[in-house]
Amino acid sequence: MEIFLTLLLVLGVIHLVQAQNEQGFINLDCGLPASEPSPYRQTETGLEFYSDAKFIQSGEIATIQSQTNLRNILKPYTTLRYFPQGTRNCYNLLIEKGRKYLIKAWFRYGNYDGHDIKPKFGLYLGPNLWTTVDMNLVNNSTNEEILHVPTSDSLQVCLVKNGATTPFISSLELRPLGNHSYITQLGSLKLISRRYYTTSDDNIRYPGDAYDRQWFPRSLSWLTHISTTRDVSNGGIYNLPKAVRQNAAMPTNASAPLTIEWTPENPNDQFYVYLHFAEIQDLQANETREFDVFLDGNTFADLVTPKKFEITTIESHYPRTCEGEKCSLQLTRTQRSTLPPLLNAYEIYRVIQFMQPETIETEVVALKNVQDTYKLIRINWQGDPCVPQHLMWDGLACSNTTISRPPRVTSLNLSSIGLTGTIAAAIQNLTQLETLDLSNNKLTGEVPEFLGNIKPLLLINLSGNDLNGSIPQSLQSKGIELLLHGNPRLCQTKSCTKPQSKDFPVVIVATVASVIILIAVLGLVFLLVLRKKNQYTTMQAQQLPPSMPAAMVNIANANSHEPLNEIKRRMFTYSEVIKMTNNFQNNLGKGGFGMVYHGFVNSSRQVAVKVLSQFSSQGYKEFKAEVDLLLRVHHTNLVTLVGYCYEEDHLALIYEFLPNGDLKQHLTGKGGRPIMNWSIRLRIALEAALGLEYLHIGCTPPMVHRDVKTANILLDENFKAKLADFGLSRSFQGGIQSHDSTAVAGTLGYLDPEYNQSGRLGEKSDVYSFGIVLLEMITNQPVINQTSENSHITKWVSSKLICGNIIEIMDPTLRKDYDSNSAWRAVELAMSCANPSYSKRPSMSQVINELKECIMCENSRLSNNQGLESQAIRIGLDSSVVPKAR
Ligand SMILES: *[C@@H]1O[C@H](CO)[C@@H](O)[C@H](O)[C@H]1NC(C)=O
Ligand SMILES: *[C@@H]1O[C@H](CO)[C@@H](O)[C@H](O)[C@H]1NC(C)=O
Ligand SMILES: *[C@@H]1O[C@H](CO)[C@@H](O)[C@H](O)[C@H]1NC(C)=O
Ligand SMILES: *[C@@H]1O[C@H](CO)[C@@H](O)[C@H](O)[C@H]1NC(C)=O
Ligand SMILES: *[C@@H]1O[C@H](CO)[C@@H](O)[C@H](O)[C@H]1NC(C)=O
Ligand SMILES: *[C@@H]1O[C@H](CO)[C@@H](O)[C@H](O)[C@H]1NC(C)=O
Ligand SMILES: *[C@@H]1O[C@H](CO)[C@@H](O)[C@H](O)[C@H]1NC(C)=O
Ligand SMILES: *[C@@H]1O[C@H](CO)[C@@H](O)[C@H](O)[C@H]1NC(C)=O
Ligand SMILES: *[C@@H]1O[C@H](CO)[C@@H](O)[C@H](O)[C@H]1NC(C)=O
Repeated sequence: MEIFLTLLLVLGVIHLVQAQNEQGFINLDCGLPASEPSPYRQTETGLEFYSDAKFIQSGEIATIQSQTNLRNILKPYTTLRYFPQGTRNCYNLLIEKGRKYLIKAWFRYGNYDGHDIKPKFGLYLGPNLWTTVDMNLVNNSTNEEILHVPTSDSLQVCLVKNGATTPFISSLELRPLGNHSYITQLGSLKLISRRYYTTSDDNIRYPGDAYDRQWFPRSLSWLTHISTTRDVSNGGIYNLPKAVRQNAAMPTNASAPLTIEWTPENPNDQFYVYLHFAEIQDLQANETREFDVFLDGNTFADLVTPKKFEITTIESHYPRTCEGEKCSLQLTRTQRSTLPPLLNAYEIYRVIQFMQPETIETEVVALKNVQDTYKLIRINWQGDPCVPQHLMWDGLACSNTTISRPPRVTSLNLSSIGLTGTIAAAIQNLTQLETLDLSNNKLTGEVPEFLGNIKPLLLINLSGNDLNGSIPQSLQSKGIELLLHGNPRLCQTKSCTKPQSKDFPVVIVATVASVIILIAVLGLVFLLVLRKKNQYTTMQAQQLPPSMPAAMVNIANANSHEPLNEIKRRMFTYSEVIKMTNNFQNNLGKGGFGMVYHGFVNSSRQVAVKVLSQFSSQGYKEFKAEVDLLLRVHHTNLVTLVGYCYEEDHLALIYEFLPNGDLKQHLTGKGGRPIMNWSIRLRIALEAALGLEYLHIGCTPPMVHRDVKTANILLDENFKAKLADFGLSRSFQGGIQSHDSTAVAGTLGYLDPEYNQSGRLGEKSDVYSFGIVLLEMITNQPVINQTSENSHITKWVSSKLICGNIIEIMDPTLRKDYDSNSAWRAVELAMSCANPSYSKRPSMSQVINELKECIMCENSRLSNNQGLESQAIRIGLDSSVVPKAR
């Protein structure tokens, strides 16, 4: 119980509040005393600051010690909020999803606690570390800045204890930016340095800078500073302050370079650099200014000529790393230039990749609703519920995550904490729950039917509450352990079981269910009368509108969880199948398990109807169990099952229709399909891998595809890849051992060679087949070549690998248009997937990571080629500044 802080915290849950001013800025003065007006206008900047109290539910407030120079400190930075309680404390801000923001956090310690111990702590955006704030390394005051695009409508800025010292914050400021500036390939940008050349001491921020970027002055003895009073226009989209546009510097020694140096914390750090300049001198006819820019000796831009009285910005188009201990950017004049290089200002950012996906938003919302419903106050229910793992909320367990798979809540334990009221409806949105423990509380009301719709549930402990009514039938299936003892008013006998309504056509539900309910109600009434307990019947009666018989109401309730059209959509009669395929007129080909026909559902949605061979050995029960499972599998890279038909000996599966055929057709160029370039092939491989990973670890129970091949990778109208034909054999639980397969599966050439010995197929059998697919995409060779002596594609590649020439291996129709590094990595990945030994193959998650690396290699080649073109467009197509093509 000590995890509950009933006194310290504001009662209830934080609701997101807007505190934006005219510019869309959000300014929070952390720790502003309640006695002071909020918002107030800060004199020097003219910005409106709000108290932070509505944006955080924890922490205490304090003021820095008065020092002689307090006058120089702006008011928002004189107060602060500190966090003696809890490990993670978070601000919750309402923002615009997908918008680029400049986020600034200010920290001024000022010995507010009189201990003079400089704190060190983590600063997080959602579940991801932004930076570590260490007051020992700065002079009592620092601010952190990042350019970041939030992926949801709320942003959590969290302070996390990572030692004995107490985190604190002075101010939090957000400024929306235009979408077209500071573009990165991936990741957010942490500010390293932003300087402008001037001899003045003026720091610039709002209102001088419209986005409130802070520009610090820089002046060096070996530079000549120049300035102008003439108007210098903002050529690009970076909207620089006037003082930045009107001041510049150049080396006094005209043949010396203008050098900017900085030291990376880690050798792998990646940077984006922005150079802003304008010609602010009047040049004579015989004078020219032209320079090249190098980063550690590598070309960054060449033949640059500043435009007259107009700002040009040179930017990195892809992340750059430095070669030595130091990064050194040099502006060097060209031979024909008579004047030294010139620069007005520069900005340097480091790339931070936020790799940890956040918990699915609907589950976060559901948990907040649960918290709201029960007025739960828990210090650690802040920030992301599941991640990072060591900060997971008390009472939760979550699924493991990969880069491509966000965490999901798998267990909710609110046992023995005095909950009152009914079981919160929001729990139904935690659709991956495996255990739910609400035992030992004071919960009342009925056991809700929705619990039965949470398919993965294995254990529900509701014992020791005061629930009443009966148990929905949906919960009585085998596999769910339902603990209910100690609920004296709950009827647990079969006779008061509520019927289940799902998965049957409506008419049957209405008739069968009403009979069952009628019998049940009669039985119940009879029982109750016998017991002379009329409490329950009066309660039931009160809920009914006077004219409606009890049975009708129950049907309505029971159906409310699944719309009627949902049920209908999934089950089709054979005559409907005939109608939708126009009597099987348009044959799309023969797939595994049967013929496939084109068709329409509701005369608009296109479908592919697979008519299963009639000698299927399965009984209806097994078939339906499998199909029910498949209907629940939804992933953007898996072909969606729309419905099915099972009528006497007619079996059919109805899938979404994908207009662009399969990967095999594209690789073989069948039907005049265009050749896919390397970058598209990699993307398709990644998408197929994501689909497969989902089958392996995203589904409960997990599935093995068993027949991964190019013919089973279909392409939609946007050429997005989707895997087809999965799950049509027994789904399995656990690892390879428990998975016996007797049915013949797989396709010759793609089939796991270990299958012959073990007779079993596991996830890594799919990995093997995926490796073969990848080899096909790389080489465009047949999987089994009847005419050559190296008959299998792995042998063919191995024989070529000996020569070590990538061009020999790659599909010649790609015409060498690929990054060779990317190609090598793909070949190595494919060969490791196709390792004959089951245990030596990578997992699909590892395959995905490696494919992403391949894509990055290829992309940086492409951006190298295209960067200069786009730069030309951005700079304004003035040929005098367009660097020559390399
Ligand atoms: C920036 O992009 C976001 C999301 O795509 C959009 O909502 C917003 O309107 C854009 N802002 C501007 C200034 O274009
Ligand atoms: C801290 O202040 C001292 C003296 O003013 C200065 O030499 C030093 O560079 C400062 N350190 C940082 C990290 O700003
Ligand atoms: C930091 O603050 C302490 C008082 O808390 C003061 O003694 C010290 O001089 C300050 N350091 C700098 C570099 O301003
Ligand atoms: C000017 O710079 C060039 C190139 O860095 C150097 O060789 C030369 O010695 C410098 N001249 C003076 C006077 O410092
Ligand atoms: C350019 O011409 C001016 C006279 O018009 C002369 O004084 C100057 O030295 C010349 N500069 C160069 C670099 O030739
Ligand atoms: C999930 O993570 C836990 C702890 O890191 C680990 O013990 C477990 O093996 C993981 N499970 C899977 C399926 O990766
Ligand atoms: C829930 O938590 C309580 C203690 O807080 C523990 O005794 C109980 O076993 C947990 N329930 C489950 C299902 O793990
Ligand atoms: C479940 O989530 C959906 C989508 O976010 C929402 O519309 C619905 O209201 C939620 N249901 C409950 C009971 O909270
Ligand atoms: C269910 O809850 C009761 C009461 O808290 C507890 O005694 C029992 O051990 C729990 N059962 C399981 C399986 O967690």
